[in-house]
Amino acid sequence: MPTLAIDFGTSNSAVAILTPEGLRRLPLEAGGDTLPTAVFFPARGGAMKIGEAAGAALIAGEEGRYMRALKSVLGTALFHDSRLIGGRRRTLADVVTAFLSTVKERAETVSGIRFEDALSGRPVHFHTADPDRDARAEADLAACYAAAGFTSVRFMAEPEAAALSSHGLGATGEIGLVVDIGGGTSDFSVYRMEGGRLRILASHGIRLGGTDFDESVSLSHAMPELGHGSSLRREIGPGTLPMPNAVYVDLATWSRIPFVYTPENRREVARMARLATEPEKLDRLSAVLQEELGHELAFAVEHGKIAANGPEGAGIIDMGMIERGLAPAITGTSLDKALESHRAELAKAAAETLHLAGIPPESVGTVILVGGSSLMRLVAEEARRLCPAARIERSQAFTAVVDGLALALAEEPVA
Ligand SMILES: Nc1ncnc2c1ncn2[C@@H]1O[C@H](COP(=O)(O)OP(=O)(O)OP(=O)(O)O)[C@@H](O)[C@H]1O
Ligand SMILES: [Mg+2]
Repeated sequence: MPTLAIDFGTSNSAVAILTPEGLRRLPLEAGGDTLPTAVFFPARGGAMKIGEAAGAALIAGEEGRYMRALKSVLGTALFHDSRLIGGRRRTLADVVTAFLSTVKERAETVSGIRFEDALSGRPVHFHTADPDRDARAEADLAACYAAAGFTSVRFMAEPEAAALSSHGLGATGEIGLVVDIGGGTSDFSVYRMEGGRLRILASHGIRLGGTDFDESVSLSHAMPELGHGSSLRREIGPGTLPMPNAVYVDLATWSRIPFVYTPENRREVARMARLATEPEKLDRLSAVLQEELGHELAFAVEHGKIAANGPEGAGIIDMGMIERGLAPAITGTSLDKALESHRAELAKAAAETLHLAGIPPESVGTVILVGGSSLMRLVAEEARRLCPAARIERSQAFTAVVDGLALALAEEPVA
């Protein structure tokens, strides 16, 4: 019975199998080997959409509930809260189950194979600082696989899978560092080549990824246009107070956006608008809550981040969905400033991984970069700084993990 290899990513997911001819990715939607880990529930019931179709429904302004970055919520209490989504009460666990069950069905349709068993990737740590929550996150995900119809699921650390698919034909003794920076986590593995095989010496990871970069970029570049960092007149007496942060942080955080459109938040923002020293900015915030524009704004921030990181070193955050012509600039320099503390955290985690492996940085021959956020310039810069003697190589940014999971199936005893 073949096993389905699944990379359930914060931003993108993919599946693959191992056949006698080698590894084969199974397309889950037309036009690609990966699909966005996103769902859309139409307001009046009707079938859930996933992937690009979910994004298209959002952009078309269809009425309904769009959700992304569901992986970030694994292990938290929010994952088991039930709420009204698409005309029915469900938990986020139900939503992840529905996503995985659609993935399973599509993989079965494309391949003509029935899958009972899954080999799933997992970050080294879903939650960095809390081992209990980390264990709960894996248990939550395992329960979703079971509810989606898999009889068994096993997990493999994502960077270890990426190492399997990405290492070259290193000579014995060659040491490599795999750096996998995705939407939600940054994961690292150190390996050594031994007789043509790869041995993992250590793996490590932190809860930091492209969605956190988006949050920082949003708070520094987009949210100020909605009044973040501005002030309120006191209700009684002279002087001003700083603007409360909470709603801005929620709007800047992919996994929290679906939950900001509450009557309480709308009332609170109306109150803030009455007292604001810059009321026109609060009017924009009200529009975002009224018209549920949070995800569109998050996509605009993500595009701005990618543009400013690119060769032009400049972009805009197109906030035209809120107000015609509103488009704050973002430059390579302002992006760097927004991500400064994240850069330091990444460099520290990479150095810790080498320390755990007992490998001095100058012994690393190759650094392999994978994951969408490894396309951020700061990642290669920090890799070069940490391991100046190493070759920096890029592997398949979006499929290295799923490929490695499928390849790992070759090394398993057949039951
Ligand atoms: N060209 C690019 N430049 C910079 N960042 C990019 C680029 N393309 C995609 N990204 C970012 O990569 C992230 C998604 O990467 P990826 O698909 O590898 O994550 P994931 O595997 O879903 O997440 P995780 O492994 O953390 O669960 C997003 O945050 C996205 O903004
Ligand atoms: Mg990933």
